[in-house]
Amino acid sequence: MHAAAIVAAAGSGSRLGAGLPKALVPLAGRPLVCWAVDTLLDGGVSEVVVVVPAAQRAEFEAVLPRGVAVVDGGASRTASVRAGLAAIGPAATAVLVHDAARPLTPAAVVARVLAALEAGTPAVIPVLPVVDTTVLVDDDGLVTDAVPRAPLRRVQTPQGFDRASLVAAYAALDPGADLTDDAAVVRRAGVPVSTVDGDERCAKVTVAHDLTLAALALTVGES
Ligand code: CTP
Ligand code: MG
Repeated sequence: MHAAAIVAAAGSGSRLGAGLPKALVPLAGRPLVCWAVDTLLDGGVSEVVVVVPAAQRAEFEAVLPRGVAVVDGGASRTASVRAGLAAIGPAATAVLVHDAARPLTPAAVVARVLAALEAGTPAVIPVLPVVDTTVLVDDDGLVTDAVPRAPLRRVQTPQGFDRASLVAAYAALDPGADLTDDAAVVRRAGVPVSTVDGDERCAKVTVAHDLTLAALALTVGES
């Protein structure tokens, strides 16, 4: 199986507030996007397309390894992934979509996603259980109900897809749609989405504290 990966790296990182695109923010001296690309290659992906903010394309090209394709992203994550999908080479039969913002994702998670695709599943996502009590709150901040958490899962990336299914799902999607992940895009097209075990180390860097935690994880040798 020839698997390509799209790395969504075109966001601004407004919640992190680092003053540069989040994917270029260093973790232990290396931009987050470089950590993400390495994980995908280590996990068995054959080809990587990185989707970047058009204005910072040169900065990304300067830090990414040779052989990685770089394309301009869009205003939403969905638009960025759509641009990445259009840039994948002809050989790929499977596509993984990964957030640059998940720098410490273990290669084993990539391998689990690839194994599920190899076994014939058309779409697969890494998930983890919800560990906190989860409640519904009304407009006044009052708790109205507790949500049974046993069937709930937190969704991570990389998410894996049969290429034809992902391409067809994006083709059927409203061009202005903005969904938070790619599994939502294929589910809209009626594709069943399977799950594999995620990993806490796939955690997304969203706010400054997440970057602190990632640096700490490296310091104690967790990753
Ligand atoms: N992303 C993208 N194109 C966009 C928006 C987001 O490729 N137009 C990517 C980000 O670079 C990130 C991933 O999607 O790797 C997950 O998005 P998020 O964590 O929300 O990152 P940002 O949008 O950059 O952050 P923020 O929402 O805080 O501005
Ligand atoms: Mg965002």
